[in-house]
Amino acid sequence: MSDMVKLFVNGVEVEVEAGKNLIDAVGAVGIEIPHLCYHPALGADGNCRMCLVGIEDGRPPLVPACKTPAQEGMKVLLDAEHIKKIQRDVMELELINHPIDCPVCDQAGECSLQDYYMDYDQRESRMTVAQVNKNKKMDFGCGVVHDQERCVLCGRCVRFCREITKTGELGIINRTDESRVNIFPGRPLENRYAVNVVDLCPVGAMTSSDFRFQQRVWFLKKSPGICHGCSKGCNITIDHNRQKYEDDIIYRLRPRLNQQVNGYFMCDEGRLSYKQQNENRVTQVLIDKSEASINDAIQSCLAKIENSSSPLILVSPNCSLEQLVAIKALADQIDAPISGYSDGYIKAGDGDDYLIQDDKSANRAGLNLLEIDTTKAKFEERLATADLLINFDNDLSLSYSDTELKEMLSDTVIIALSSQKNYLTDLANILIPLAAYSEYAGSLINCDNILQTFDKALSKNAPLDDAAIVAAKLGGPMKNATDIFCELQKLIPALSNTELQNIPAEGLNLNNSEASNVTA
Ligand code: SF4
Ligand code: SF4
Ligand code: FES
Repeated sequence: MSDMVKLFVNGVEVEVEAGKNLIDAVGAVGIEIPHLCYHPALGADGNCRMCLVGIEDGRPPLVPACKTPAQEGMKVLLDAEHIKKIQRDVMELELINHPIDCPVCDQAGECSLQDYYMDYDQRESRMTVAQVNKNKKMDFGCGVVHDQERCVLCGRCVRFCREITKTGELGIINRTDESRVNIFPGRPLENRYAVNVVDLCPVGAMTSSDFRFQQRVWFLKKSPGICHGCSKGCNITIDHNRQKYEDDIIYRLRPRLNQQVNGYFMCDEGRLSYKQQNENRVTQVLIDKSEASINDAIQSCLAKIENSSSPLILVSPNCSLEQLVAIKALADQIDAPISGYSDGYIKAGDGDDYLIQDDKSANRAGLNLLEIDTTKAKFEERLATADLLINFDNDLSLSYSDTELKEMLSDTVIIALSSQKNYLTDLANILIPLAAYSEYAGSLINCDNILQTFDKALSKNAPLDDAAIVAAKLGGPMKNATDIFCELQKLIPALSNTELQNIPAEGLNLNNSEASNVTA
């Protein structure tokens, strides 16, 4: 537990963490100090002055909250008339050249300037001279579009490229009302985290070419989730919406704070991975390439399993722990070997020393936990003698060419349970669509051995079963979440005295648990 101090805000005593700056310290107890240039991941720059607060009996009596640590007995003034005047004056300065066209701005609804105008200003402009015109819709690269007129020169984007990615593509050039954020000539944004500047920008000056003007943000439902784009498991917010007469679809992913996993950021590739959840989905049950009902397909699968002398089950390294438990139980039940071979998910050398991992799967540690073999040799040896392959969403086309797959599977009956279309779903004798990860709840263990849980985010018009439910329908003994969790408690001693819903929001670090037997 951090040291706490007692201080006064507008005469009311509050207890806050010692040493934190005033914005974060009193923010943690629900008191807002307006700020534009400060961001906890980038530190204090002190350039916007929006956070000036009074310190009663203080020397000096006026301080920027972003640069002032909380101290015992401090008397902070936020609602004094001279502080309100400073806030109004800063707003007036920020708005001198800012276009007042919120109804057509993509940031409306999540803009600090708009919110602060309503909370701290609400005055008519006194400007009688024409606004300075600057460049609009500038392509900065990496899908980032910049509007110089909307920029309040807080410098967050510049500091992100200097301090976080260390690529330094952005700068603020010129002085006074000629100041602008720009790229250096011929050097656009070129880093794999660039779109984070869109989230960091407190106004609508940085927008994403992928998302801009796709949706008004107040129509979006914001659900927490975990990115499945690599084994880091960055925490995300899934912004989705069901437009009239349409299905619930995802419009964007944004990073969600988890200090133990991804901090405030995510990579651009993971950010765009939502498209896989919307597009190229398997939606139709097929038996021998003809449309069929799910009940007929299950009956047909059961008959194929019954008649098989050597079935083989393949699982995806993206399956949740719950799905792996249910599928492994099915494998035991029907006496089938199980493989998690998925070398194609690993892009050696692609990862970096920040978030991006070589392993583009979300739960390889889960395969290890359940002692599911992942070797190529064993998979190929078992496949060579198998007459039936039951594939739970493992995209084998990442590991083999189409020609290799065709040859390897020429004598094998294929049951493909899949969320995405791929070559194997084309070859399948029976194809059953599965829910994608935003459509079910589950848990994963990331590359750092952190167990994280996620909830169902989307409710599709025609909901699909997830792999655990299909495994039960195919005869697996794990029929419900309670059975599965009991099994997980046996595998992960750290869970023995808790429930999944009690796992901390930042995840359970299994490395810290003496009881843990997990080797990721
Ligand atoms: S573009 Fe946005 S983040 Fe960058 S300086 Fe301008 S207002 Fe700040
Ligand atoms: S680093 Fe990995 S988990 Fe994080 S956003 Fe990128 S792909 Fe997703
Ligand atoms: S947030 Fe403190 S000066 Fe900008």
